[in-house]
Amino acid sequence: MSSIEVKVVQKIREAEDIFCFELASTDGKSLPPFSAGAHIDVHVNDSVTRQYSLCNDASLTHHYLIGVLRDPGSRGGSSALHDKVAEGDTLKISEPKNHFPLVTARKTLLFAGGIGVTPILCMAERLALISADFEMHYCTRSIERTAFLKRIKSSSFSDRVHFHFDTGDDTQKLQLQALLRTPEPDTHIYVCGPGGFIEYVVGTAKAMHWAEENVHLECFGAAPVDTLGDQAFRIQVASTGDYYTVPPSRTVVQVLEENGIDIPVSCEQGVCGTCITRVLCGTPDHRDMYFTDEERDKNDQFTPCCSRAKTAELVLDL
Ligand code: FES
Repeated sequence: MSSIEVKVVQKIREAEDIFCFELASTDGKSLPPFSAGAHIDVHVNDSVTRQYSLCNDASLTHHYLIGVLRDPGSRGGSSALHDKVAEGDTLKISEPKNHFPLVTARKTLLFAGGIGVTPILCMAERLALISADFEMHYCTRSIERTAFLKRIKSSSFSDRVHFHFDTGDDTQKLQLQALLRTPEPDTHIYVCGPGGFIEYVVGTAKAMHWAEENVHLECFGAAPVDTLGDQAFRIQVASTGDYYTVPPSRTVVQVLEENGIDIPVSCEQGVCGTCITRVLCGTPDHRDMYFTDEERDKNDQFTPCCSRAKTAELVLDL
């Protein structure tokens, strides 16, 4: 997919540790259209690409808006955007992609955790525009860390948005079990946020017997994985028959790269699906947030940027 050069028209402090970047094409032309839930790849520099959801009104294509949280564990994505990118700078981005589209439903329940509000807010605006039935729950650590507060409070759907602050009293906390107690076949759930938040919402929905196809998720960072027990394993490249050992401290992508085999990567956290590789033999230890349970159970593909092996060997379709 070809990249688009954009200019940072505005960089606005949206909340504590969160900046919003307004991007416009450098040639003054419209940007490609997108739908609620879409994201773009932002090429922060030559070696770092990150995904950010678009959070502006999808009918306005003269600009894109992304919200960027400074990640304390940043490996060069959010910290570079916060510290090094200024108004007037140019960036390369991809065309919008949507792995998190809205489907038509009788009712929609939207759950946002922290900066996961970006696609969720876009969805709320879209649903309000088409007069659909929805409610939105927005969980953040504190009011100071709540992006788009003014925009939501001044919207036509503000009465359908429930804020839940970790620092607030118990009466305003998210009562997820009560909310999801009765699965509705025509109601769809959308959740975006940190891995732990997604697991909480998706896990509760599952425990309450919601149908898997009614629960949609988008994750910005993989849930922390316990890597203490990681073992070395071997991979075989099917086309050449060559074997390589993946030690506990390296990923499959890194080992292949060291041996001259490049796998395209983007998030490197099992979130985006860019690196998906077919597995011909052996059982992957899936550590991504990309596949559905059903896809994982097939064990015929994996994300080599973060996933490992449950068997001593994996044969890869490379
Ligand atoms: S690079 Fe994003 S899932 Fe592997």
